[in-house]
Amino acid sequence: MPIMRVERLLYGVDDIAECARFFADAGFVLVAAEEDRAELATQENQRIILRHKDDPRLPKAVEDGSTLRELWWGVEKSADLKQIVEAIGPAAEYVEEKQIVRAVDPNGLSLRFEVSNPTPAEVTKRTSNQLRNIGRVNERLEAYGQGRPLRIVHVAYNITKAKNEESLAFYTGPLKFKAVDKVLDTGTFLQSEGDIEHHNFFLCFRPDKAGINHIALEVRDFDEVMEAGNHMITQGWKESRRPGRHTLGSNVYRFVHNPAGGRIEYVADMDRMDKSWETRVFEKNPGHNIWMLKSSGSDTGEN
Ligand SMILES: [Fe+2]
Repeated sequence: MPIMRVERLLYGVDDIAECARFFADAGFVLVAAEEDRAELATQENQRIILRHKDDPRLPKAVEDGSTLRELWWGVEKSADLKQIVEAIGPAAEYVEEKQIVRAVDPNGLSLRFEVSNPTPAEVTKRTSNQLRNIGRVNERLEAYGQGRPLRIVHVAYNITKAKNEESLAFYTGPLKFKAVDKVLDTGTFLQSEGDIEHHNFFLCFRPDKAGINHIALEVRDFDEVMEAGNHMITQGWKESRRPGRHTLGSNVYRFVHNPAGGRIEYVADMDRMDKSWETRVFEKNPGHNIWMLKSSGSDTGEN
């Protein structure tokens, strides 16, 4: 019953129009804008759904304010839904006419499972030059201008320390996620059965409080990570930490505060781990960054 990817994210927010503007600035494609709901898509057709936080149709929130209310996982085929219900047991509900499964995780986060509906994005790798490895002649690069997320590559969710073992048992047991990297003082990087990413789910207990931490948006390369962040700042959104490259996952990152809850992280060049990978266990966090941007310059970029 392979879980392939994050399929949709349902947020309950204070201001639907403002949050729709945020995700559009972030590079999502607006597919529906109604009075009580907005929906936006990545290039690979994963959806962000926005509703007002007091909308009675929303599942219960695990934290105050604007936040993620339901995480939808995409499975490979319809038969997988029945297997998920059987694996989770009576706590899960199979709604046959809608072809979905509903469940709630040990942290109170509502989950939904449906058959994945990807639209494969066309990606052309930018050419590059390095000494005698020449990929570009008589041609110059153009700016990306704005990030265009290919996909939502992972969700990072905060949990309490007290719920860590129960949460890992739930996700690695019936739902068959694999712990790729387990950091005993921070959290666990999980990979679903149908994915090859270093992680498509991260359960973090550092703040010792349940709620959304961030969602990660894969873009083409380093330049697009940087330019996407620049565009968000130009549009008035706030960066939440300096850009860098993570130690676990190896990806380049840039974080921006998300008015719908938590943050977004632009990422590129993340590690892939296949089935031969054996879980690594770290007693202590090996550090967040291979590198992080330092500057002795002013905001103009000039010293
Ligand atoms: Fe992340």
